[in-house]
Amino acid sequence: MRLSELSEANLARAYAYPDGLERPYVRVNFVTSVDGAATVRGLSRGLSSKPDRRVFGLLRRLCDVILVGAQTARAENYRGARKPNQATGAPPRIAVVTASAELDPAAPLFTDTAVPPLILAASGAPPANLRRLADAGAEVVELGEHPLTPAALLAELDARGLRRVLCEGGPRLFGELVAAGAVDELCLTITPALVGAGTARMVGSALDAPRGLRLAGVLEEDGVLLLRYLREG
Ligand SMILES: NC(=O)c1ccc[n+]([C@@H]2O[C@H](COP(=O)([O-])OP(=O)(O)OC[C@H]3O[C@@H](n4cnc5c(N)ncnc54)[C@H](OP(=O)(O)O)[C@@H]3O)[C@@H](O)[C@H]2O)c1
Repeated sequence: MRLSELSEANLARAYAYPDGLERPYVRVNFVTSVDGAATVRGLSRGLSSKPDRRVFGLLRRLCDVILVGAQTARAENYRGARKPNQATGAPPRIAVVTASAELDPAAPLFTDTAVPPLILAASGAPPANLRRLADAGAEVVELGEHPLTPAALLAELDARGLRRVLCEGGPRLFGELVAAGAVDELCLTITPALVGAGTARMVGSALDAPRGLRLAGVLEEDGVLLLRYLREG
């Protein structure tokens, strides 16, 4: 089906999180080229398109929290989400996973946001860095592990009632979630382009075995494929 044939309401229905969640449901959103590149010159921007941006924006409006690795927040110069969640009326929080807490307190993540970002830090993160981020308005949580496990990250989100999780990568964080069997759904935009070798792939670590996925939705617009996969089983 063509994306443009779907109204906003029908698109929101197609991407609705399951009702009555009793644990965090992890949806991951990625854009790649046909040959699987996740970046062009170090950024995802070169792969994005109008159809991708439409679904990207909708997924943000449906979630409680946007979970992201610190390198993606730094590289893509993250700022706070603007549009409110359709159910809560507030924009979703950005939760950044980090071991170093090396984030710039002057970055738009801290200065251009309606809700405080949540910094999920591994144990051993330099206290001065953590203090700087707290002073910049972030809520900083040290989770007492290094590296952080997906179980600890999701338990923290669960404790805050943030169960509609949208992970926007990057490949390292996604790889860790996949390896731990913690990904419920993958929303994948395939951009009709070839990028070639030497760029990041979507899953940033070697898996011990392939993880099966079940195709749950296909939309198309201008040659861009917007796929929805669920964890097999
Ligand atoms: N195509 C797409 O849709 C898409 C989506 C997202 C990102 N990207 C691209 O991917 C690139 C970034 O991806 P990436 O794989 O390098 O990085 P990433 O997964 O975004 O972030 C990695 C960083 O997150 C923190 N981290 C991750 N797992 C951790 C753990 N278990 N415990 C503690 N900290 C942890 C560490 O932060 P510290 O370094 O602060 O310790 C680590 O260096 C960027 O170029 C971005 O543009 C593409």
